[in-house]
Amino acid sequence: MKRLQLSVDERLYNKLVFKSGEAGDLPQEFVIKVLEEHLAHVKADDDPPLFRFVGSLDESQPHPQQGNFTFIDLFAGIGGMRRAFETQGGECIFTSEWDKFAQQTYEANFGERPHGDITSISSEQVPEHDILLAGFPCQPFSLAGISKKQSLGRATGFLDKAQGTLFFEVARIIRDKRPRGFLLENVKNLVSHDKGRTFTVIRETLEKLGYQVYWQVIDAKSYVPQHRERIFLVGFDRNYFQKDVDFSFPEPLTSDLWPKVGSILEKRVDKKFTLSDKLWEYLQAYRAKHAAAGNGFGFSLVGPTDTARTLSARYYKDGSEILVARKRGNPRKLTPRECARLMGFPEEQKIPVSNTQAYRQFGNAVVVPVVTDLAAAMLSAMNPLGGENSVPQELSDEATAAEILPRLDKKSSQRIRPTKRTVKKKTTVKRNSVKKSFDKRAARSSGKKSRQA
Ligand SMILES: C[S@@+](CC[C@H](N)C(=O)[O-])C[C@H]1O[C@@H](n2cnc3c(N)ncnc32)[C@H](O)[C@@H]1O
Repeated sequence: MKRLQLSVDERLYNKLVFKSGEAGDLPQEFVIKVLEEHLAHVKADDDPPLFRFVGSLDESQPHPQQGNFTFIDLFAGIGGMRRAFETQGGECIFTSEWDKFAQQTYEANFGERPHGDITSISSEQVPEHDILLAGFPCQPFSLAGISKKQSLGRATGFLDKAQGTLFFEVARIIRDKRPRGFLLENVKNLVSHDKGRTFTVIRETLEKLGYQVYWQVIDAKSYVPQHRERIFLVGFDRNYFQKDVDFSFPEPLTSDLWPKVGSILEKRVDKKFTLSDKLWEYLQAYRAKHAAAGNGFGFSLVGPTDTARTLSARYYKDGSEILVARKRGNPRKLTPRECARLMGFPEEQKIPVSNTQAYRQFGNAVVVPVVTDLAAAMLSAMNPLGGENSVPQELSDEATAAEILPRLDKKSSQRIRPTKRTVKKKTTVKRNSVKKSFDKRAARSSGKKSRQA
């Protein structure tokens, strides 16, 4: 069966939808009848077009196509990635996010509550999809996270069992569901963490799963007035596409076109966002102390013609990384709505949580227009290859794929709780028992035995 997508004139749409109960077993005759009736009343010159072509899908060979592809949203936060891929015509068919406040925001905006902890979700519970999105948590990879954990004498990165293994949850789902493509996001420091070893493990894992991997650090400042560098990894399934996918990252705009802070500021802002005298004095003293020691720590003031520093998830504490200068009086913090704008979220983004939670959520999010551009670039790279050259195949090198993954399957299957979205189709990848070499690899990179990795 082939599927054709058409936009339909509203009156025709209403007739087709509201009279569809009359179709019975003969949908063809019903559609022809409705069309004939409708055409009899249409004046060719005056009326808007009946149809507009949107896209097509050969269901015998599903492939992602702008306007017609599915995706899943892992570590979804408040759905920044989802917003971007939806604007490119994608349909989100599965979401995982465990934080209850993020779930609340997600539900207010997308009408559905995400599934929870990804480590408790088996691959069978995840539906087949075209593109996998994941902004897996960055704490073990960020400089702030590292210094905090090192000071507590704890290991970081892949050695941190609570967080570092979450990448392997992503890898597990990629291995088992074989999406045509994926987009992963993380902090810039991922590249240099542990002298580059962490990133090498991530890239090699994805490559050995049979994916062609591209990566780039992108600064959001040409999209929003914020210096925010994040690494994006884009991957394409070699088994599906059969030849290299010609993907390029979007080009940044020249600096004269960068938006400035003035474009995100609200006109009227409640007094409660203005810093108290005590806090403002403290921040000034803190900055002076560090300046005397020869470093540039401390608050940052912005005005309408500036680019802001990176909004962090800790912004709710004192807002010191981005303070808005005022003509009279102490500076103020950004409002949650201004943070939404600074992250490129549209005005209709609902903020149903406290200001503290909202700051955290925007500070953790992706800059939506950056991901929108990436989505468009991915789709245009994937489309030309979605034709006859792209026959989906069984994973040809099962041993290689399996050997680099830990035995998450066993772990997960013990914890399966059936959900409404359980998909019955079995994965084509056999879970064979070549985990030993993964253990060796993990032990090499950790210097420890890491069965739990
Ligand atoms: C960096 S944020 C991603 C933000 C997202 N890209 C956005 O635009 O809002 C990572 C998210 O992963 C979630 N998370 C962490 N561990 C998780 C787990 N085991 N299962 C599900 N979600 C998890 C966190 O609550 C956090 O919201």
